[in-house]
Amino acid sequence: MGNGPIVIGLDVGTTKICAVAGEVGSEGIQVLGMGTSESRGLRKGIVVDIEAAVESIREAVQRLEESSSVQAGAVYVGIAGGHIKSFESYGTAPVKGRDITSEDIQRALEAAKAVYVPLDREVLHVIPKEYIVDGQEGITNPIGMSGVRLEVKVQIVTGSVSAVQNLMKCCERAGLKVIDIVLEPLASSLATLTEQEKQEGVVMVDMGGGTTDIAFYRKGVLSYTSVIAIGGNHVTNDLAIGLRLPLQEAERLKKTYGSALPSSRDEKVEAVLGSGERVSLPVDCLTEIINPRCEELFELIKAELINTGIYEEALYGAVITGGGSLLNGIDKLAEAVLGMPVRLGKPRDVALFTGNLSDPRYSTGIGLLLYGSESESPPIEYTDAFANIFKRMKRWVAGWFRK
Ligand SMILES: Nc1ncnc2c1ncn2[C@@H]1O[C@H](COP(=O)(O)OP(=O)(O)OP(=O)(O)O)[C@@H](O)[C@H]1O
Ligand SMILES: [Mg+2]
Repeated sequence: MGNGPIVIGLDVGTTKICAVAGEVGSEGIQVLGMGTSESRGLRKGIVVDIEAAVESIREAVQRLEESSSVQAGAVYVGIAGGHIKSFESYGTAPVKGRDITSEDIQRALEAAKAVYVPLDREVLHVIPKEYIVDGQEGITNPIGMSGVRLEVKVQIVTGSVSAVQNLMKCCERAGLKVIDIVLEPLASSLATLTEQEKQEGVVMVDMGGGTTDIAFYRKGVLSYTSVIAIGGNHVTNDLAIGLRLPLQEAERLKKTYGSALPSSRDEKVEAVLGSGERVSLPVDCLTEIINPRCEELFELIKAELINTGIYEEALYGAVITGGGSLLNGIDKLAEAVLGMPVRLGKPRDVALFTGNLSDPRYSTGIGLLLYGSESESPPIEYTDAFANIFKRMKRWVAGWFRK
């Protein structure tokens, strides 16, 4: 370990909790270790049992600490779930005929943020999409430009106050400080998408256990995000119900023999019923159950992309990540249903780590690490995250311009 700042990402997923630590150095991030645990106390991305969730977080953090010499103190934690909403806003600031400075940008962003947000919702991110200087559109970095009027178009991401507070409560009870709360699809995108994809239009699909998160990037900026309440666990449930199998056995069969695409295989697989009895099943009967559920998911995604006008703009198609993307044939099925190119996304290389990080289940965790490392300064510790949105915005903006 060197002397660089240590950043810790915490992905509190529905299936697993993943804590990952990295050291920020001049040549990038060195991943120091990772700890995972089975997730308990969460449903569809939100906390439903605080005690159970705290225990799971503690377990993952303890494993991280055992696997590295890192003492976990403050974390970047991911948030997801159906309560997340995002909308476009717009702000403006007079410049008074001198060069535009970062303070002018802050004022324009503050104005964009001054929109009505219901009391039960909290602003999580204010993402600048483009700047307009004296009517000139499409500016990505206005600092140093001359002008008298600065305008900014932003995407505001909000979450339910209670969901945010419960997540923070869990982290704090597990002995962790929360530095920042980061939208999970944003984190997964950081870990899996290329700059070119983000510039030219790409849809990131993170298929988790309880939900599937969607993020759309164009011109390098996150411009749409949503959550579909179907994930890999629904596929497992369908198998368990359809074949009258215990959930664990359905999960095993899905992972070992399951496929999203029909095949002409004439194989049989052995399944163990709840009674302990062993039965032989044609492998195709798994696909007959898995295929319609996956088709349904991608039909829903396609309908959403069409309704929001994104469909035509996603020139680079879609990138699928998350544990659900490990299902055999899911990329081919997605390509057929969506009618666009699809590739599988894994966390891209983050420096020197001996363990296997190149697993789509870790995209969010690695992405949180990347997000934390791109913050302007080493993690600032504070507990009152709600009062500090402006501080967070400043960091975001600084990170934005460094690229
Ligand atoms: N080899 C595999 N084949 C098929 N599915 C798999 C495989 N490995 C994991 N999965 C599925 O991936 C899902 C879990 O994905 P992931 O770990 O990304 O979820 P999560 O982040 O905990 O959940 P969420 O993002 O919904 O909160 C589970 O439904 C699991 O069955
Ligand atoms: Mg996830």
